[in-house]
Amino acid sequence: MPPIDPTRLVSDDRVHASVYTDPQVFELERERLFGRAWIYIGHESQVPEAGDYVRVALGTGQMLLVRQTDGSLALLQNRCTHRGACLATEPRGHVARFRCPYHAWNFGLDGHLISVPMADGYGGELKLDDPALQLTRAPRVQSYRGFVFASLAAEGPDLVSFLGSLASALDNMVERAPEGTLTQAGGTLRMAYKGNWKLFMENATDLVHPSVVHESSVAAARAHRESLAADPQTAQTLQMLLSNGLAMPQWGEVPLHADDQGHVYMGGFYRSGVIAPEREDPVYTAYRAALVERHGESDTARILAVDRFNNLIWPNLSVNSRFGVIRQVQPVAVDQTVITSTCFRFDGAPPEMFDLTLRFLNTASSASSMVASDDLELFERCQRGLAASPEAWLDIRRGRLSEQRAADGSLDVPGTSELAIRNQFRAWLAHMSEGGVR
Ligand code: FES
Ligand SMILES: [Fe+2]
Repeated sequence: MPPIDPTRLVSDDRVHASVYTDPQVFELERERLFGRAWIYIGHESQVPEAGDYVRVALGTGQMLLVRQTDGSLALLQNRCTHRGACLATEPRGHVARFRCPYHAWNFGLDGHLISVPMADGYGGELKLDDPALQLTRAPRVQSYRGFVFASLAAEGPDLVSFLGSLASALDNMVERAPEGTLTQAGGTLRMAYKGNWKLFMENATDLVHPSVVHESSVAAARAHRESLAADPQTAQTLQMLLSNGLAMPQWGEVPLHADDQGHVYMGGFYRSGVIAPEREDPVYTAYRAALVERHGESDTARILAVDRFNNLIWPNLSVNSRFGVIRQVQPVAVDQTVITSTCFRFDGAPPEMFDLTLRFLNTASSASSMVASDDLELFERCQRGLAASPEAWLDIRRGRLSEQRAADGSLDVPGTSELAIRNQFRAWLAHMSEGGVR
């Protein structure tokens, strides 16, 4: 089979179906994109003490993020170097060392081989310091304000350059915490769909789809407006569902901003009730006062004025700073994807602010969400449609002619543009080239 040439599959106005369906393309993405780019893997608050670990996904691989005795972080291959067994099967834990459950080889927190049983059975042939017997470590692991990213490439752009203008989404989430720190809390939600991973990232800032795809939940919210509004437990859900019912011209008024690394953010569109950007109820007043105490009045106003919804750090992280929520996109196979959603406490905020976060996540991103289930259904329909006609070309031209690139390469356009998809594919092409992004 001839090698894949990504440049023949994508242009500024169309994308070839095989980009979503061909296992060879997926394999090339695994190698050149997920094998090189900075990928979000977890949050520092998940591993506060030396010996704490969490099992994390990096591309299709599974690794362990481990807090070291000197306070640094290591990302280790979750695979014993003896016969390949996974060392840790629990999602998180605390260990003094990793003991393989198969034949009890022992590894240190930094991945070095400490001991093997029946060592004399090797007649001196096995050396504990043999590089091939140590757990593989990701060459680059770096934290940005508590958010931990890793790259499997020893060289490449530094993390801050990679994050580009979207570092501001992480900054804003941290600044929204009155004590200046975030704590991951509230568990994890997972959703799987039978479709390509890119479908999720393309959808997250596609603002033509909500009033179409989510029509039924908007209608249900409108029909039961009074009863849902009367109960504080459902009032937030009501507002969230109603907000998806904007008319097309109103979606066009939501700003989209993209930078040339493939990252993009969209403006906020929640205006009413408990999900409005600023409120006057006692909980919010206490929260705001705590922020003023830390930042002063004018910085607090600046922080709270950042009203964005999905911030996409391409290729696979969606951040909602206002609600303290992130979603990670994990490619499993060319037609299988897992979305993991987690959320954060704003340390120092009234506890009720976290209730808002949990309800936001459950309404928008749980497997039983009336919103997310619509999107997943469409991703699977797209995948089925594409699999049935792998020679098709897909159209991505909406809003193309009105794009105006600023001097720094960034683009600001109306929300109904398909800019985000085009921009993600510009980045895709850069990463998928042989030399990658430098
Ligand atoms: S597979 Fe781990 S000790 Fe044998
Ligand atoms: Fe949607």
